[in-house]
Amino acid sequence: MALELFHKEHTLTMRKKLIGQSCRLFFSHDPVKIVRAQGQYLYDENGTQYLDCISNVQHVGHCHPSITQAAAKQMEVLNANTRFLHDNIIQYAERLTATLPKKLCVFYFVNSGSEANDLALRLARQYTQHEDVIVLDHAYHGHLTSLIDISPYKFRKLAGQKEWVHVAPIPDTYRGLYRADHPNPAEAYADTVKSLIDEVHKRGRKISSFFVESLPSVAGQIMLPPGYFQKVAQYIRAAGGVFVADEIQTGFGRVGSHFWAFQLQGEDFCPDIVTMGKPMGNGHPLACVVTTEEIAGAFTANGVEYFNTFGGNPVSCAIGLAVLDVIEKEDLRSNAVRVGNHLMKLLRELQAKHPIIGDVRGVGLFLGFELVKDRVDLSPATEEAALLVRRLKEKHICLSTDGPWENVIKFKPPMCFSMQDAERVTEQIDHILTEIEDLDNRNKQEK
Ligand SMILES: Cc1ncc(COP(=O)(O)O)c(C=O)c1O
Repeated sequence: MALELFHKEHTLTMRKKLIGQSCRLFFSHDPVKIVRAQGQYLYDENGTQYLDCISNVQHVGHCHPSITQAAAKQMEVLNANTRFLHDNIIQYAERLTATLPKKLCVFYFVNSGSEANDLALRLARQYTQHEDVIVLDHAYHGHLTSLIDISPYKFRKLAGQKEWVHVAPIPDTYRGLYRADHPNPAEAYADTVKSLIDEVHKRGRKISSFFVESLPSVAGQIMLPPGYFQKVAQYIRAAGGVFVADEIQTGFGRVGSHFWAFQLQGEDFCPDIVTMGKPMGNGHPLACVVTTEEIAGAFTANGVEYFNTFGGNPVSCAIGLAVLDVIEKEDLRSNAVRVGNHLMKLLRELQAKHPIIGDVRGVGLFLGFELVKDRVDLSPATEEAALLVRRLKEKHICLSTDGPWENVIKFKPPMCFSMQDAERVTEQIDHILTEIEDLDNRNKQEK
């Protein structure tokens, strides 16, 4: 099969002409054209290999043969509408049940994380008969109108905050309201949610839900203090609302020690609704909402059918099952623990050497490090972070920045990422940061 139809320049020119310019490319100043991929490696039109540290969607590795075979095999037999009875959806839901707390047992299959969160919002509102939503600052929950409304990361750049949306401070113990030196940041941050609920009640409004990414990602790979979810859930439920855990980035073993990132909060914690997506289909559009019988029952009782043309079709479910098989057979959760710990150790060594690295955080293969100009006032080193990512790309390593100041470098690679990959990327980060520091020192001397 020809890997390229057009020369790169033509592809780029036509893309600019034909595709909406708000659909931005990675490395937009000098985009990479990728024509094939395998495992954690991407290959451009010249056959140059790039180490992929950012594709969390291709969870078990790009073009994994078990996934492509499962898709092709089912596609040759049947891919029908989900209103016909079929075994794959049942088998898949049963397999997912085994990863979840018992209470979460009713599934709705959809095609994207955004669809999952939009449905979660409908479920929450139908069940509680309340409208308002509490979210964390800098959160992102999807691109539908309803989700832009509950995503401060987006709505702050648009028309602004709706009267039914309330924003709680992000429990960031590095640069947030309460930091690592606070005796109980989990409780202190949960109390900010309680105060918000009280304010909402004073205005005569009622809370339907608290939406939260189990580990906030666009906010900059934030680790939430354990015990925070339990306390918030207590306050939200007392207000008649439900707790929605957005696992769209973090589910399916990315954190290594657990299948779901909300489980990092403690085995005693169970959300009322969980949404999942990205890694579920290894690149095939497959997403899901799981909830309790009570919440699903209230949704059924409204008498309106929920019909989703593609959600949970036999091919999607065959792919979803194959992803679960590979996670188990290749023991990818243990790999995430082993490689994630190694990468964390290497990054901490770099932190000791380079003052610009203010913080290193994360778990499993969901890691980040934050660049700061000054370790005391924590002023973000945004330009340096952009430069680092650009220079890494020149070394054929794909990484990206995130966080409110775009100064956090994020790792969320395919789960087959290896110890050697971790060493390769940190060696390059070391070289580039040394160059940046040398340049900085020369500039200071010249002034
Ligand atoms: C935490 C989170 N929720 C929801 C979404 C939306 O998912 P999708 O892009 O599949 O609609 C994203 C996408 O980046 C996400 O990161």
